[in-house]
Order: sequence, then structure tokens, then C-alpha cells
Amino acid sequence: MSLIEYKGFGGVPLSADMLGDENDPPVLLIPEIGQSRAAWRDVAEALVLSGRRVVNLDLRDADQLAPHIEDLRAVLAQMGSRPVVVAAGNGGWIATRALAIDGTHLAAGLVLVDMPVDEEAIADGLAARLALPALVVRGGFSPAQSGTASDAFNAALPIGQIADINECDLELASDRKEALLGQLLEFLELRQPRDAMEFKAGSDPRTLRDAMGCFATGITIVTALDAAGSPVGLTANSFTSVSLDPPLLLVCIANTAGTAPALREAGHFGVNVLQIGQQPTSNRFAAKGEDRFANQPWAPGQTGVPLLGSSLVSFECERESLHEAGDHFILIGRVVRAQFEPHRDPLLYFRGKYRRLHFA
Ligand SMILES: Cc1cc2nc3c(=O)[nH]c(=O)nc-3n(C[C@H](O)[C@H](O)[C@H](O)COP(=O)(O)O)c2cc1C
Repeated sequence: MSLIEYKGFGGVPLSADMLGDENDPPVLLIPEIGQSRAAWRDVAEALVLSGRRVVNLDLRDADQLAPHIEDLRAVLAQMGSRPVVVAAGNGGWIATRALAIDGTHLAAGLVLVDMPVDEEAIADGLAARLALPALVVRGGFSPAQSGTASDAFNAALPIGQIADINECDLELASDRKEALLGQLLEFLELRQPRDAMEFKAGSDPRTLRDAMGCFATGITIVTALDAAGSPVGLTANSFTSVSLDPPLLLVCIANTAGTAPALREAGHFGVNVLQIGQQPTSNRFAAKGEDRFANQPWAPGQTGVPLLGSSLVSFECERESLHEAGDHFILIGRVVRAQFEPHRDPLLYFRGKYRRLHFA
């Protein structure tokens, strides 16, 4: 993250945090009037993880809208490429007014988060002049954006969509960050797509790994007993359910993994799907030179395989078959027993990073 300074209207300096890769599509965050850029910090970091370049701007100290509108137009003119502007509260009116004339030259889209009702501005017909894609996000308990005036505003947006997030209060950005992010990312994917990357046979394996990493997965720990009867295990996200009748699943194990020889020989193995609190377990079972079971509660299942007690689900399997597959082997197991606690949240993995669910 770097701190930069834009020149606002009349040369007034405006501070901003700049986050993310400069080649990623930009998003400009505008706070509510009276709040600082700190209000958007969590959202900014999450957007960077989703491959966005983020500029998180501070407004000047002023109660009136007019200088903020000129400031925003000045900042947008200084940005190298057209961002999607995401604005909170009255920041939404700054952005709406700044983009209502020739907005498409300055921004690729506009997201208005819990923008309060301003009858006068609505009567001005500003919405109809916003010729760029717009998303209105409003909280269910919030008085903002409800009523006929704001319905008229929303209906007049030429390229508009509305997202209602229920059971939350006015301060959406902090109150229901997950829900807001879900809406935001969906809008950005639709309205500000990224350039595709390409892997071709013969390209470097890193690019293939990046391509594979676009498939979001859960995380498992595959466990077994080695020939000496000691528990072994490794972190694996290559888990797939294969068949219901008979009940089969598979995991793919690297030939080079330290646990590969034991898993090749084992007549039974376990697959423990991790929950949100087990990120340290995932790290430990993927790191070299760790005593993986030292501080790890586990108990033998009915076939003796080690099962990690607090998992989301633990499958106990009898080995069905093993298939060589390039630098991995595919281990297919017949499920003997599954113990699960479906109310827990999963630990997820996507593009090389741990993730959690976004609730819609
Ligand atoms: C999120 C994640 C998913 C992984 N998935 C797999 C997998 O599906 N198959 C595999 O062989 N290794 C996978 N690994 C790597 C192994 O966990 C790691 O190489 C192994 O535990 C190294 O230790 P070892 O050689 O002592 O077994 C994964 C690692 C992480 C962090």
C-alpha cells in the first residue's frame, strides 16, 4: 500500500491509499462526508485480493457538496484509467453529481452504497443523466434509499441495478461487509472484466497452476497410518466426490509428497474437510519438517485411520483403487463412514489464498 496525493479543486491536496497491482482494473472508493478513508479499509483489502487496483480517497474538510464534486472530477481526470467509483452515504451524491455530465469519460461504473434520500437532487433528474452502469446497494433496516422518491431515482437509471441487503443498518460498509462485497464483486465482474490470461501446452507450469487456482475449493487433510502404525497426513484440495452408489471419492497425491509412500500402501485412509477455524491445521499439514500430529487432537476411526475431530466432515475410506496420473496418483476411496457437522463454515481456497464464504 502506498500513500499518494491528488490535487483537488483549487490545488487542495487530497490523500489516498493506493493498493494492488497497477495492471489490475481500478476501483475508486469515496467515503461518507465526515468519514475518512479508514471506513473503506477492509473492503479495499478484500478488493485487492479479488484482483482490483484500489484508490481509497480522503475528502477535503467541507460540509457542502460543491467542492467535493469538483475534487472528484479533478481526481478522476488525474487517474490513468477509468475506475468504477464506489461511494458511501452522501459520497454517493458527490459521485452522482460529478458523473451526471460526461460521466462515461471519467468512470467505468458507479456503486452507491446506502445513499440517503435527497428529494431535490432526485427531482433534478440526475439519475437519467448517469449514462454509465450503476448499482444501488441498500440496507433493509435503513431509511436510506427507501420510499417513492428513491424508487423514482433508481427506476430512472439508464443502466441500473438494485441490491437489497436485508437485516442490516445504515453503515453497510462496516455492518455487512461480506454481503456488500458479494454484490460489489458481482457488479465488477460484469461491468469491469479483466483481460484473460492464457496457458498453452508447453507453457510454464506456474501459469497452469494459476489457471487451476481459478477453481474455488475447500481444503482437506488426507490421513492414514504408515507401516509402523504412526499417523501421517497432508493438506490436499484435489478432493472430489466421485459416485453415490457405490459411495466413492478421490484425492490426487503428488508422487514427491513425503506421505505419498504411506498413502500408496494404506488399505484405508481418511479425508477430513476443514472448517473456518482450521487454517493453522492446513498450514501445518502442508509444511515440511513439522510434527503434524504433535498438537493435533485426533482419534482412530472404526478402521483405525486417524480422524481430525473438529472437522466439518471426516470421511473414512477403504482403498478402492489407485491410478497413476502424471506427477500425481489418484487415490479412490470407498466411503465406510462419514461424520459431519454441517453448521460449521468451510475453510476455502481460491487463487492461492484462504477465503471465507460471502453471504449473499
Ligand atoms: C491449500 C493446499 C492444497 C494442497 N493440495 C494438495 C493436493 O491436492 N495434493 C498434493 O499432493 N499436495 C497438495 N498440497 C501440498 C501438500 O500439502 C504438501 O506438498 C505436502 O504436505 C508437503 O509435505 P510432505 O512432502 O512432507 O508430505 C496442498 C497444499 C496446500 C497449502
